[in-house]
Amino acid sequence: MPDQSIRPWHTGHASPRVRHACSRSGAGTFSGMTTGPTSLIASLRVEYADRGLTAEDLGPDPTAAFAKWHDAAATAGLHEPNAMVVSTVDGSAVSSRMVLLKGVDQRGFVFYTNTESRKGHELAVNPACALLFPWHPLERQVRIEGTAALVSAEEADRYFASRPRGSQLGAWASPQSEVVSGRPYLAERYQHEADRFTDAEVVPRPPQWSGYRVRPHRIEFWQGRPGRMHDRIVFERVGDETWAVERLAP
Ligand SMILES: Cc1cc2nc3c(=O)[nH]c(=O)nc-3n(C[C@H](O)[C@H](O)[C@H](O)COP(=O)(O)O)c2cc1C
Repeated sequence: MPDQSIRPWHTGHASPRVRHACSRSGAGTFSGMTTGPTSLIASLRVEYADRGLTAEDLGPDPTAAFAKWHDAAATAGLHEPNAMVVSTVDGSAVSSRMVLLKGVDQRGFVFYTNTESRKGHELAVNPACALLFPWHPLERQVRIEGTAALVSAEEADRYFASRPRGSQLGAWASPQSEVVSGRPYLAERYQHEADRFTDAEVVPRPPQWSGYRVRPHRIEFWQGRPGRMHDRIVFERVGDETWAVERLAP
């Protein structure tokens, strides 16, 4: 299991300029001391477009390949590169929304939410879901299809404990996806929770707040190329840790 695939994601990113400085000592994806974040993105994009994408570039492990692409997106200064679109199914209807990826390893891709939300209800009935990382400034996207399962209570507790107190109170206060009368109602609920936990050093995790781990069975890496002749390399799971790799037409 490659090291880079097992680590938490953080929402706070260094400023593009700091990341820029870091990237100089990294993979050498750009040159020029005075290059700003915008031209860094442009130079990375051009480099990727020129080079194209092969299965050999990605290697045999799609999780490790994903981690490298996420790092490239972070290095380029993309805002919240861990933001992904999650699509779920309700009967024959599909719905999508953004969430933040909070961890990835060989077991899958983890995000946290309210299990009583629309997505939570949909996943409880049908755990099939799709994830999409739209890293368009780099002319890249990653599409993931898989099955979601709740993380363990211990894992959810650990992550909840790491959140800022305000977010913890918000998780108690917000009946996510329910119709509400207005902002004052929500403010009142928030204040109620703030008062309730005012003397508590630790805010416990609400029972309806947890994480899902999406175990992928298909991961596609898409790289934009001139003339719309884009590269698409798809990994299909054929065993526990084995993947078949194919190229798709753009
Ligand atoms: C960039 C971004 C990141 C978000 N991250 C999360 C998240 O990690 N968890 C979450 O529950 N909602 C997150 N949201 C809000 C969701 O998009 C959505 O409004 C909420 O989860 C309710 O969705 P649902 O009604 O379909 O269940 C995020 C929104 C944006 C724009």
